[in-house]
Amino acid sequence: MSQITEIAPDVFKITTFISEVNIQFNQFLVKDEEPLLYHTGMKGLFPTVNEAVAKLIDPTTLRWIGFSHFEADECGALREWQRIALDATAICSFVSKIVSVDDVVAERPARALEDGEVLVTGKYRFKFLQTPHVPHAWDAGHLFEENSGTLLCSDLFHQNGEVEAITNSDIVSRFKEMLIEYQEGPFANYLPYTTKTEKILGRLADLKPKTIAPMHGSTYVGDGESAILDLAQAMKDVLA
Ligand SMILES: [Fe+2]
Ligand SMILES: [Fe+2]
Repeated sequence: MSQITEIAPDVFKITTFISEVNIQFNQFLVKDEEPLLYHTGMKGLFPTVNEAVAKLIDPTTLRWIGFSHFEADECGALREWQRIALDATAICSFVSKIVSVDDVVAERPARALEDGEVLVTGKYRFKFLQTPHVPHAWDAGHLFEENSGTLLCSDLFHQNGEVEAITNSDIVSRFKEMLIEYQEGPFANYLPYTTKTEKILGRLADLKPKTIAPMHGSTYVGDGESAILDLAQAMKDVLA
């Protein structure tokens, strides 16, 4: 059973905790004239995520399916979604589309977004930022909803465990704990730290998000600019 929480106006977080890996997987459904789902979850999660989405909208009316990079928890169930929502188009970076998505996981060709491009879904405006290797993967990008100041931040701010849906408290220390824990096990080097990491994170901080919505763990509501700068420092401390 997935849990549903409204984290910003019309932005619903769908959370499923998988105890074997001690991780929550979050998808975000944005209710608008053209409904958008951010992250599909893995194929195995499709039935429970579909059931949750059906409590919010008619799933067949889904128009856009976004994600940061090509990976099972980001877009593994894209084809399953596109088979029930016949007008649903994937939105991702050009690299994602060309290198993997169209060939491996899409029922129909994806729409590649350019860096800085804004996708209007009705009331809401999603700005796309190309962020190679942040959080990880060559094709990575981020979507930022400009009206509510919501940053859909994928694996950035990843927190392990069964945590609260939404918080005003610091989530960077939990993120740092996860990084340290992962460095000692099979998930070592989960996130790279490159010569471009600080600059890319600075660009995300400049958006001054009010809500930060990670794929794994609690959503943070507060001073997003400071939180991202703190996260950059945590990554530098552990990974650089
Ligand atoms: Fe990832
Ligand atoms: Fe992830």
